[in-house]
Amino acid sequence: MTVTVNKELSEYAITVLDSVGDGVIVISHEGLVTLMNPAAEEITGRSRRQIVGTSFIDSFRSEPFLIEMVERTTITGGSLSDQDNIVLITSGNPVPVNATTFPLVQGDGKTIGVILNLRDLTSIRELEAAVRQADRLSALGTLAAGLAHEIKNPLGGIKGAAQLLERELDPNSELLDYSRVMIRETDRIDKIIRQLLDLASPRGPRYAPVNLHLVLGDIILLQREPAASRDVSIITAFDPSIPPIMADEAQLTQLFLNLIKNALEAMSEGGRVTITSRVLSEYHLSRDENRSRMVAVDIKDTGRGISEENLAKVGTPFFSTKDGGTGLGLAICQKIVAEHRGIIKIESKQEQGTKISVLLPLIQSALKG
Ligand SMILES: Nc1ncnc2c1ncn2[C@@H]1O[C@H](COP(=O)(O)OP(=O)(O)OP(=O)(O)O)[C@@H](O)[C@H]1O
Ligand SMILES: [Mg+2]
Repeated sequence: MTVTVNKELSEYAITVLDSVGDGVIVISHEGLVTLMNPAAEEITGRSRRQIVGTSFIDSFRSEPFLIEMVERTTITGGSLSDQDNIVLITSGNPVPVNATTFPLVQGDGKTIGVILNLRDLTSIRELEAAVRQADRLSALGTLAAGLAHEIKNPLGGIKGAAQLLERELDPNSELLDYSRVMIRETDRIDKIIRQLLDLASPRGPRYAPVNLHLVLGDIILLQREPAASRDVSIITAFDPSIPPIMADEAQLTQLFLNLIKNALEAMSEGGRVTITSRVLSEYHLSRDENRSRMVAVDIKDTGRGISEENLAKVGTPFFSTKDGGTGLGLAICQKIVAEHRGIIKIESKQEQGTKISVLLPLIQSALKG
């Protein structure tokens, strides 16, 4: 009887362990892996068939941090936690994890091994980056709104005066070049101010059902000319099953227009922009939030790419490598995506191209109003 109860209990315990979202690896006092749950397989990129029964040190030789933590807990019997410093390389991709070790203690108080708990921090890191960006923008916003109002009136005055001057001058006068420069440059300042105000405006999205593919189609139509003049072809691969999403259509238009323009501007001698849409099921937005389905739009170009050094800077207001660029385009994109509770990811290799992925929640009704 006790045997059955024990057997049922151990099956029950294994089911519990297998359902835990954190990776759990148990190591015996002799240093052998005795248990490993599916989450641990996913996080470490190792299969439990291969690992269970083998030496932990041999199997995790490429992760010296983990080996050190397990050894220290084995020796001291104390629990250890490493908040931030561990990055596992799983099939080539770095995965940030939080690792904790606990001593495995029997009923009689004897320590018989170590439990290693691994938590995948990928989505948390992405959210943290979005929050940092939002903080930067809110400080900028207050300043920008004040500044923009102060500048707009005198700017209007300068432009008006330059236009008057233009009218007064002899049509053959060389001075006309100067008045034109004045008008062109005041227009440029005006554009920067409008973009800054956009960035700083507290207006949140006005949600309504939006057909993403229609929005993208309209932008592509508008960009056909500029693309052709750069010898760039625009290719689309849309997933027709994507339903309308709750979003602000004007903002999404601005978002994708900025991204597609950037892609075109990265290619001066021909190339290809590929725009793909797809549904991501079960994307973990955060641990506290319900799993929500997201749609992803990828905009991939074959342009000059972004250097590693600049990758950290893009999206910071006013960072631009272009003559005449305001450097506000991506900052506005990040703001729009953050307000839609989405995520924007940038991958780029210099001289090979850039892929920007916009992930938006496929919310049907929760955000209405
Ligand atoms: N697809 C891309 N390929 C290569 N570099 C890019 C790409 N997208 C953005 N960048 C880099 O990021 C910088 C910032 O982009 P952002 O859109 O914010 O400003 P901008 O394009 O320079 O100016 P604006 O958008 O106001 O015309 C660009 O100057 C460029 O260096
Ligand atoms: Mg831009």
